[in-house]
Amino acid sequence: MEHCSYYTFVILISIILSQHFTNVLFVEGRAHYHKKKGGKSLAPSSPSYAPVPSGDDPSSPSPVAPSTPYPSPDSEGPCIFDVTSFGAVGDGSNDDTNAFQAAWKAACAVESSVVLVPARGKFMITSSIFSGPCKPGLVLQIDGILMPPEGPDCWPESDSKRQWLVFYRLNDFTLNGTGTIEGDDCISIGPGCSDVDIQGVVCDHSHGISIGSLGVHNSRSCVSNITVKGALIKNSDNGVRIKTWQGGSGTVSDISFQDIQMENTTNSIIIDQYYCLTKACRNETSAVYLSGVTYKNIKGTYNNVRSAPIHFACSDAVPCTNITMSEVELLPAQGELVDDPFCWNAYGIQETLSIPPIECLQDGMPLSLGEHVDGC
Ligand SMILES: *[C@@H]1O[C@H](CO)[C@@H](O)[C@H](O)[C@H]1NC(C)=O
Ligand SMILES: *[C@@H]1O[C@H](CO)[C@@H](O)[C@H](O)[C@H]1NC(C)=O
Ligand SMILES: *[C@@H]1O[C@H](CO)[C@@H](O)[C@H](O)[C@H]1NC(C)=O
Ligand SMILES: *[C@@H]1O[C@H](CO)[C@@H](O)[C@H](O)[C@H]1NC(C)=O
Ligand SMILES: *[C@@H]1O[C@H](CO)[C@@H](O)[C@H](O)[C@H]1NC(C)=O
Repeated sequence: MEHCSYYTFVILISIILSQHFTNVLFVEGRAHYHKKKGGKSLAPSSPSYAPVPSGDDPSSPSPVAPSTPYPSPDSEGPCIFDVTSFGAVGDGSNDDTNAFQAAWKAACAVESSVVLVPARGKFMITSSIFSGPCKPGLVLQIDGILMPPEGPDCWPESDSKRQWLVFYRLNDFTLNGTGTIEGDDCISIGPGCSDVDIQGVVCDHSHGISIGSLGVHNSRSCVSNITVKGALIKNSDNGVRIKTWQGGSGTVSDISFQDIQMENTTNSIIIDQYYCLTKACRNETSAVYLSGVTYKNIKGTYNNVRSAPIHFACSDAVPCTNITMSEVELLPAQGELVDDPFCWNAYGIQETLSIPPIECLQDGMPLSLGEHVDGC
């Protein structure tokens, strides 16, 4: 009956809304629930058409009726696709994967729409690929908590399981919100993504925020213009990572990690162009080309049990170029400073002196970029 009262509540709120009350009430009643940019009127809180039932899993909840009236076609502001309108429960144990996929699919088809994961829910979803192409301006707003079904430690070591929230083939996409992601690869940006903006994400006990893994099975990957801004990454074994396999092709360019707080994170800043799950991969003569990666205002602490907090392992075949470090200050969470960042075939500059200093970045451009650069 909890559901009934929830939906009654939402409907009640909608009625209040439709009578043009101020949005103050609404904001108090539903935490982050939606105030429009202009702040004058409110965005609709349900999709403009009926939610898709949450698939064929018999254990999933029965499809729910739309929780609020449909927005009028000419209403201003983004269409909001609340995952709870698609059957997500958010109790920390129900598998909400299908509801997320349905909300994603619906929002994907509407320009500048928002997939909303509301605050005060703990949504359990299994390994999920959020794939495009979608209409431009799509936003995934995570205000609640996203968690994997079991501790990541219990998962098999297959690549698909290791990458939990994967974004694939997206152009002009934003991920934001005030929630927390507890996951394996907290967020992973896959091939074919461009113009992606990730703002204010909190990752706890995860593998951090990754671009990749790219170039698997000699594939071609093009990723460009990705900004990760205002994230907090804590108790994680990687912070911000770019990982590619040997033998791939394509280019990763114009990547910016900025205003990121690290807390007790191992491998805070890492480029790994020798990514391999089995440790048995051979070095090959081609690689995805990395160029134009900026790390700016990245501060906090690292867990120094394993290695230096900054690690740039670029491929022999194609060096990484145009790496910029600015206001990077990483200190040990406890114990001694690890002052030997690792660089291999990495070119770039320190705009300000990093802590620890990364004297190993090479100036300028490599003499030859090799014939293997594939500019996308
Ligand atoms: C996320 O983006 C949406 C759509 O642009 C916006 O309404 C919302 O305020 C943003 N949330 C945060 C926390 O930045
Ligand atoms: C980069 O992506 C953002 C959206 O995340 C977009 O606003 C901006 O115009 C893009 N920049 C270029 C150079 O395409
Ligand atoms: C620091 O992070 C590691 C995982 O990288 C975790 O095992 C450890 O418990 C964390 N320490 C604290 C004090 O949270
Ligand atoms: C691949 O190349 C790197 C860098 O030159 C080297 O450190 C590593 O040992 C090589 N791995 C194999 C399997 O040959
Ligand atoms: C270096 O990368 C930045 C973006 O990270 C880009 O604006 C700049 O044009 C690049 N410079 C060169 C020489 O490619």
